Amino acid sequence: MGLELTREEQRMLDGEYGKATRKAMEIITTLGEIYGANRLIPVSSVQIAGVSYHNLGEAGLEYLAEMAEDGKVRVLTTLNPAGMDLTEWKKHGIPEDFAVNQQRVVEAFAKMGVITTCTCTPYLIGNLPHYGEHIAWAESSAVCFANSVIGARTNREGGPSALAAALTGRTAEYGLHLDENRYAQVKYEVQAELKGTDDFGLLGKVIGDRTKKKIPYIVGIKSATTEELKSFCASVATYGGLGIFHMEGITPNQTPVPDETEIVTSEDLADARDALDDEDAEIDFISIGCPHASIKEIARIAELLDGKTVAEGKTVWITTARPTKDLAIKMGYYDKIERAGAFLVSDACCAVAPLKGRFKGLMTDSAKACFYARGKNKFKTEIRTVEECIKEAIS
Ligand code: F3S
Repeated sequence: MGLELTREEQRMLDGEYGKATRKAMEIITTLGEIYGANRLIPVSSVQIAGVSYHNLGEAGLEYLAEMAEDGKVRVLTTLNPAGMDLTEWKKHGIPEDFAVNQQRVVEAFAKMGVITTCTCTPYLIGNLPHYGEHIAWAESSAVCFANSVIGARTNREGGPSALAAALTGRTAEYGLHLDENRYAQVKYEVQAELKGTDDFGLLGKVIGDRTKKKIPYIVGIKSATTEELKSFCASVATYGGLGIFHMEGITPNQTPVPDETEIVTSEDLADARDALDDEDAEIDFISIGCPHASIKEIARIAELLDGKTVAEGKTVWITTARPTKDLAIKMGYYDKIERAGAFLVSDACCAVAPLKGRFKGLMTDSAKACFYARGKNKFKTEIRTVEECIKEAIS
């Protein structure tokens, strides 16, 4: 049947709304044709990734500046983490030239009307779609959370396709926007007991490593907090390339239950932990907040750090969204964390900040952070509970 456009979409493609909108519509329609979509659908929100100057570079920045000449977003649009805290970058050791370029990136997005909260947990700070809503999000952990935990519908967008959706308010209807591509394909029976964000990250690694992109239907989990689910989402998306999963009794989507069943035992989790623990890791960097920490996590960390001092030679980053940091300041959590010598870093994270060469070993509660610390920054890693991470920081 081919891709059919409404009159307004055709006018966007014809350039009636300006250069940036035309370019954006070209991207959306090209993707639609490649994936066999019959139509475009409106999206109600967008999350853009590829914000760190570290990843974008000058070519990426030029592209954004060009789109910002006459481009304006049509829907609620938020940003993924940048390479630094946009106000306190200096005390975190970010070089000045990097900071200048990072600000230029954020300004280009601001010019287009993007809300410049740089976070990978937009759903915690006001970009919260409802069940069934069509959205266009980049950032694999947030995509997985939106599709699975909330029941909204998005493909795993890239930076340019997410920006294109923001400028047109449209995406092509294919992939995870359609019922038939959201059903479970393999069942995982979890026999292991899970406690905390680290365990949920390890479960994400076990299932992600095994599942070969087949959508999991997970049974055996009695309860999970929002923080544990965001950790699981980040991990299963990183290790398994998944955009959706189902968790019996916890996630809202309806799906037929697959017959094929795999078992996940405590030994599997222990093996995953061993795989992320480097025996000879010299821990000089502790980071919590991948995905970005919630106010509840920050309150707990502030309590653990209250009256303590971070050991010499160790650096601690608790990473979060700016509105959450503002709230942490108001509640006195920021003071407790920073008085101890740790940093409450907003807008950035340990994976997208320019940290290569600065540290030897990372301790974190996040399986995803381990993946990027090793792959991108060549740090050794250890995965531990939040409490153990803080214990390491002050010892
Ligand atoms: Fe977020 Fe950075 Fe982790 S973008 S999911 S904190 S690697």
